[in-house]
Amino acid sequence: MGLSRRELLAAGAAVLGLSGCGGGEPTGAAPDRKVEVFSWWAGPGEKEGLEALVADFKATNPGIEFDNAAVAGGAGTVARTVLATRLENDDPPDSYQAHAGRELSAHIAAGYLEDLRELYREQGWLQKLPAGLVESITVDSAIYCVPVNIHRSNLLWYSPKTLAELSLTPPSTWAQFLDQADTITRRGLTPLSIGPGWTQKHLLENVLLGELGADGYTGLWTGRTDWSGGPVQQALQLYTQILARTDIAAGSGDWQPALDKVVAGTAAYNLMGDWADAYLRTNGLAFTEGYGVVASPGTDRVYNFLSDSFTLPKGAPHPGAARKWLIECGSVGGQDAFNPQKGSVPARTDTDRSKYTGYLAAALADWADPATRVVGSLTHGVVVDTIWSTKIDTALASFVQDKNAAAFANAVATARS
Ligand code: GAL
Repeated sequence: MGLSRRELLAAGAAVLGLSGCGGGEPTGAAPDRKVEVFSWWAGPGEKEGLEALVADFKATNPGIEFDNAAVAGGAGTVARTVLATRLENDDPPDSYQAHAGRELSAHIAAGYLEDLRELYREQGWLQKLPAGLVESITVDSAIYCVPVNIHRSNLLWYSPKTLAELSLTPPSTWAQFLDQADTITRRGLTPLSIGPGWTQKHLLENVLLGELGADGYTGLWTGRTDWSGGPVQQALQLYTQILARTDIAAGSGDWQPALDKVVAGTAAYNLMGDWADAYLRTNGLAFTEGYGVVASPGTDRVYNFLSDSFTLPKGAPHPGAARKWLIECGSVGGQDAFNPQKGSVPARTDTDRSKYTGYLAAALADWADPATRVVGSLTHGVVVDTIWSTKIDTALASFVQDKNAAAFANAVATARS
């Protein structure tokens, strides 16, 4: 069997004396003039964030052309499939988006990624990122991605105007939500709008978090919480009752159209991460007047976090430019250009807080508050690897149809990898 393109590149790099860490430019070679960056930030509310980051990158690196390889589809559902094919075919982009946490486990095991420790040392990033985040991206002492932000998953969005018309205030428990749902339905609105499978999983993780609490929820992924126990079964039953108060039968194609129903006043609530903040602002709405948000029921003072990050694949065609892209992602300037636009807070702890206003000022205060409990998102790659996650997707697709909580719990527990 001959060598794959990646192996040939690695062998070539060894001959040229290139460092295996961080993929720098060979001495004397012409610098890379282009960088191809793969992400799923192609839709409204997300592409604007990427554009802000790219604008800052171009200002810092005027000689490098940015090749935007974004593939549309919320939460990367489509992009991940396209990326898998490219990686299998030894056709990696120069850098690709992934979540901090266990999502990258399979790519690391497959040898797809460069270890970035050298770049971390050079840039001093270990001193600038929260210890918990560094821990979530460290695998056998190595680090394979550069986090650009922190998003919060557990948020309930609403229109103040609609709630005023309904004489309601946002529920702080799911039991309260179910009480309100009758009133909302009588007035001809959908209590909670929902979209495709990944948004149903996103709802599930936050119902589990709200009902089981931070420790019980975290234990689901570490093995400490019993999937067949009473509390989990009750939370799963509750999830089916909540789903029954959604428009799942005529669910939206993606997260933006599901939020549109809240904006249009045909749905009372939508549960989504804080990329919704960016989307609502790009629709011309102002925080507190045009839209409001609270922690999803039962999760006050808990931050269900996820972090977008970028990688350096082995065999990247332009490793020198890719390295510059990663430096941009990890920089104060890059994070402060990107996050205010993206609806996220910076991964770094030393950025300019004055740039975060409206919802983001409150998010940054919560994130920085030592009293805030931090847990990791299921849907967005923090707490489970892609193998388990894919099996959960399959089980969930059945569960939303058959409502069989015991079968779902059993399928998830046995699929643990
Ligand atoms: C998440 C990602 C966010 C946002 C969201 C919706 O997985 O981390 O940045 O893009 O999907 O597409």
